[in-house]
Amino acid sequence: MLNVNELQKKYKEKAVLENVSFQMKPGEIVGLVGENGAGKSTLLQLLATVMKPTQGDIQLGDLSYVSNVKEIRREIGYVPQEIAIWEEFTVEENMLFFEKLSWKKRTKEECRQLCLDMQLTHWKEGVQSLSGGMKRKLNLAISLLHNPVLLLLDEPTVGIDLKSKMEIGSYLRNLAKNEGKMIMYISHDMDEITTVCDRVYSIGKDPFYMDLLTKNEISVEQLK
Ligand SMILES: Nc1ncnc2c1ncn2[C@@H]1O[C@H](COP(=O)(O)OP(=O)(O)O)[C@@H](O)[C@H]1O
Ligand SMILES: [Mg+2]
Repeated sequence: MLNVNELQKKYKEKAVLENVSFQMKPGEIVGLVGENGAGKSTLLQLLATVMKPTQGDIQLGDLSYVSNVKEIRREIGYVPQEIAIWEEFTVEENMLFFEKLSWKKRTKEECRQLCLDMQLTHWKEGVQSLSGGMKRKLNLAISLLHNPVLLLLDEPTVGIDLKSKMEIGSYLRNLAKNEGKMIMYISHDMDEITTVCDRVYSIGKDPFYMDLLTKNEISVEQLK
């Protein structure tokens, strides 16, 4: 269970997030939508412990974001907006490199299986020759090496081909439904949001996304 309570984030004097409170349960995929600059990435960075909130608190299960940061980090997988992998290495070399940095040990076969589970089959191929979709999958696979309970994805499918997009979507659904992961997921693709997510939070002042999603058969709530 993730508990977010009265979160506020200011950059200098500018408040980007105010009074943000919500909860997530195991097995849920929650979409995060809103116009550019609304504060979506900021919220994900707070949840990922990359930044500290100006006010408010977050709890993951029994763990507090203030006093248990080290333990919390072990439970979080975070994929930032920018892809962060070694272009000059192969898929295999990337996976084995990041496995070494991870606190949880994985065999080579497990690393390979993780890639195969999301239809990333180019194990021996150099990253620079992979499609954008394959690179995204690799980034996602790396974030899952330590088997986190909370997965935070900042626009994981932007600019990639439809096939990879659908494969990532169905992989995430399985992960949530079969393994009870909590997934928070930023996207601008409303078709994808409505097929992949269980419910949606809209952030920012623009009512566009609220209005659009309310017309669909998906639960959508405004985060302040
Ligand atoms: N490190 C930072 N320092 C100052 N302002 C920032 C910083 N990061 C983001 N901002 C500002 O905060 C607002 C929200 O940004 P962001 O969370 O990236 O929005 P989104 O992901 O919804 O596009 C924007 O106005 C942005 O310019
Ligand atoms: Mg962003």
